[in-house]
Amino acid sequence: MHLQTSVLRPIVSSFNLIGDDANWNRFTGLPWDQLNPSLLTEGQRGAVVFVSYVEDHLPGYFHEYQTLFPIEDAQTTEEAIHNRELFRFIVRWGFEEDKHAQVLTMYQLKSGIEPSEEVLERRMIEENRKSFSIGFSEPVQVFTYTLLQEKATQMYYQALGRRVTEPVLGKLLNYLSKDEARHYSFFCQLLEAFVRTAEDPEKEVLPMIEDVIYSYKMPLHNTMTDYRRKAILMAREAPDYDRNAPQAVLTAMLEKMAQKHERLNRPILKMTEKMRSRLSVR
Ligand SMILES: [Fe+2]
Ligand SMILES: [Fe+2]
Repeated sequence: MHLQTSVLRPIVSSFNLIGDDANWNRFTGLPWDQLNPSLLTEGQRGAVVFVSYVEDHLPGYFHEYQTLFPIEDAQTTEEAIHNRELFRFIVRWGFEEDKHAQVLTMYQLKSGIEPSEEVLERRMIEENRKSFSIGFSEPVQVFTYTLLQEKATQMYYQALGRRVTEPVLGKLLNYLSKDEARHYSFFCQLLEAFVRTAEDPEKEVLPMIEDVIYSYKMPLHNTMTDYRRKAILMAREAPDYDRNAPQAVLTAMLEKMAQKHERLNRPILKMTEKMRSRLSVR
């Protein structure tokens, strides 16, 4: 089930309206002359490597979106129009994620985390060539998954940034978390539109969202070499990052919606109450 294009369009436009002004320069926007790698801990180096892989998988994420929201192969003209409109978001979002990947790679090289461009490139491409699937094809589920992913990265970058004393990485994490916050906000608006416009949200939309929340796992968790060990180490670098925090934020966002719309009050609260106890969200 797709959103009506008339509902989707203002959300995409408002994302791009802010996005057009929210640019930062990956080459000149960071104080590279102040780079001081000796301030990096071993764990922080590992965290940079880990998030580089996650960001660098953009071609896989982008391809998945292109496959799920085709234009040439759309079933109907309406669907093609919808997907064309969504593409205005996808392409900007993809550009920003690719920028994240490139700047993190540059950081690895300049700071000496991996000084050899050739070694780094081969390492990155090896992960890049592993196939990726969101695991859902219903648009509202695809968007819920990405929403959680955006929130997770935003919160992780913030938490890591609080510990980092190396000035270039500190500034970079700040840029990244602001971009991820904008991405999160876009998906939030999409989800709200799905729930608000559904005829019977309790049947059509809420159970689908719930399904994603309970099964959520970070991308690449099943493909990245040595994922578990890397994930544990990166979590250690940002001790105030809570793994369930993205789900908790989504729960609170749904509850806010329940307050705003009388009709949605009961079905949403029924669902979020269960979510709070199952995920131990306070
Ligand atoms: Fe990113
Ligand atoms: Fe993002």
